[in-house]
Amino acid sequence: MAGQTFRDGLLDGKVAFIAGGTSGINLGIAKRLAELGAKVAVCGRDPDKAARAAAEIGHDARGLSADVRDFAAIRAALETAVDAFGKLDIVVAGAAGNFLAPALGMSANAFKTVVDIDLLGTFNTFRACHDLLNLPGASLIAITAGQAEQAMAMQIHACAAKAGVNQVIRTLAIEWGPDVRVNGISPGPIDGTEGMARLAPDPVTRAAHENRIPTKRWGEVGEIADAAVFLSSPAASYITGAILNVDGGSSVGDAGRMDTSKGLA
Ligand code: COA
Ligand code: NAP
Repeated sequence: MAGQTFRDGLLDGKVAFIAGGTSGINLGIAKRLAELGAKVAVCGRDPDKAARAAAEIGHDARGLSADVRDFAAIRAALETAVDAFGKLDIVVAGAAGNFLAPALGMSANAFKTVVDIDLLGTFNTFRACHDLLNLPGASLIAITAGQAEQAMAMQIHACAAKAGVNQVIRTLAIEWGPDVRVNGISPGPIDGTEGMARLAPDPVTRAAHENRIPTKRWGEVGEIADAAVFLSSPAASYITGAILNVDGGSSVGDAGRMDTSKGLA
């Protein structure tokens, strides 16, 4: 299970900045990076939530406030992290917004809001951090989602935004290739998160989601955190431009269309 696999001190001397790291999956990533020795700064819009997250992480973590849609604000937060800890080695772009709505139930501003947080926010975070990175060997990770590849009703904003995020990952991997590795993590449905509280708010929807996953269960925050550690570690030194599906096989196909629970003859 998650968290059993990395040696203590693996990330000693590293500095990590996690945009959207004040709750959920990204907070889990921040905690795991800190446990393994990295100095960590997390950032969200709400300063009180950021302070609480930093206290929860411990290890001298910093809680910063910025809206990723505002380039100057995210740049200032990155500079604050550098002032505290020196250059940056690991930057995670994980801030996102989501809600269920059909295209006809969504204003132009509703669509734009999610595209701005997820896609523009990922660009801003990565664009703003480049000259603060410890080169060579820096690791950038964007948190994307299955909606990037798999169209989904009620999710036109997230599908468009995360598809763009995947191309930001691949384009920057090419442009920054010699010095910076740029990868993505695409989580499946993760238990106990705000994202799934919004996308599967009742037991029937949850069961339907589970049934479509080959492993027949939702993932844990720690399983995404482990993927982030791997991508930030020397074990991933030749991996860039990759999008790692950490989704119990959800992206392979729809396991729910046939009942495989009785085994296949
Ligand atoms: N259905 C349709 N439209 C919605 C909506 C919904 N459920 N929720 C918000 N909107 C619309 C608003 O009406 C507004 O459009 P309008 O100006 O035409 O009325 C637009 O989206 C922006 O809403 P606002 O509340 O001003 O945005 P915000 O920037 O304050 O918050 C959200 C962004 C809406 C994404 C908010 O849900 C949020 O902060 N989410 C962060 C947490 C999260 O989503 N976690 C899951 C990550 S996967
Ligand atoms: P979450 O708990 O709601 O976390 C979102 C984080 O982003 C919070 O720290 C939030 O803090 C911050 N944030 C939101 N809007 C921001 C903005 N404009 N500027 C700066 N920070 C902002 O979400 P989650 O469910 O754990 O999801 C985390 C990531 O995983 C997202 O990228 C999501 O798309 C992806 N993902 C999640 C799932 C899942 O199962 N949950 C599945 C696939 C992909 P503030 O509110 O204080 O700003």
